[in-house]
Amino acid sequence: MDEVISRREFMKSGFSKGPVTPGRRRGLPQPPLEKPHNPDFALVDLPEPNSNLVKNEDIFSCIASRTSRRQFTGEGISLSELSVVLWATQGVKKVLPRATFRSVPSAGACHPYETYLVVRNVEGLDPGLYRYLAISHKLEVIEAPASLGDEAVRATGNQTWTKEAAVFFIWAVEAYRSEWRYGKEAAKFMLLDAGHICQNLYLAVEALGLGTCAIGAYDQDAMDSLIRVDGENEYAVYCAPVGRI
Ligand SMILES: Cc1cc2nc3c(=O)[nH]c(=O)nc-3n(C[C@H](O)[C@H](O)[C@H](O)COP(=O)(O)O)c2cc1C
Repeated sequence: MDEVISRREFMKSGFSKGPVTPGRRRGLPQPPLEKPHNPDFALVDLPEPNSNLVKNEDIFSCIASRTSRRQFTGEGISLSELSVVLWATQGVKKVLPRATFRSVPSAGACHPYETYLVVRNVEGLDPGLYRYLAISHKLEVIEAPASLGDEAVRATGNQTWTKEAAVFFIWAVEAYRSEWRYGKEAAKFMLLDAGHICQNLYLAVEALGLGTCAIGAYDQDAMDSLIRVDGENEYAVYCAPVGRI
């Protein structure tokens, strides 16, 4: 039980307990605003987010009807629908030299998350692993091993209902983007940031007539290896399948 209780501490604010000594205070350079594009990987242009795709424009009703949906028809979604969901969750509205402003809030505008997609059934995309380049609103094509879909289900600890989703969102944090500004206070802020991202996902898919369900119970090593990240500087924090309902 001690370990459980000691874990509570990190949820509390430490700002009044003395100065945080993040990289910023020590004069270390700020990390990039997003993980740079790997030039070995192809790019896919995304359509501009199009509000005409929204089926339910009533925010009150979207909030009221939002629920976690674990049954998908297995049908595909369009690239335009995916574009809207990516924009709603991480879309960049303004780029400053040291910060981006996006569709969701983030402590200190650090925006430490990268969005990985396991695409199963999205019109115009081959099934495979992609990463969203939020600043340019493009997708980076990482790779397309045949086993990826099954690997994704295994990485959720065999939550087999995820199999029928058209696309699986995985948010991985590049921790230093937030730690550079907030030191150890960053851990709490990064989790709060993730909640905002996934809430916008819920509301965006509700408006589009699609479905999703947050997934926090997953196998860390399997998920990190699925999205090809090192598990130390960058690691999966949250995920959500999106599909037709
Ligand atoms: C942080 C978090 C983690 C979750 N992890 C899972 C999960 O691993 N599997 C799952 O089926 N649902 C998961 N859920 C969905 C919750 O079970 C769901 O939100 C809850 O039952 C309330 O239902 P509602 O979203 O329809 O209101 C998660 C939700 C949150 C917020």
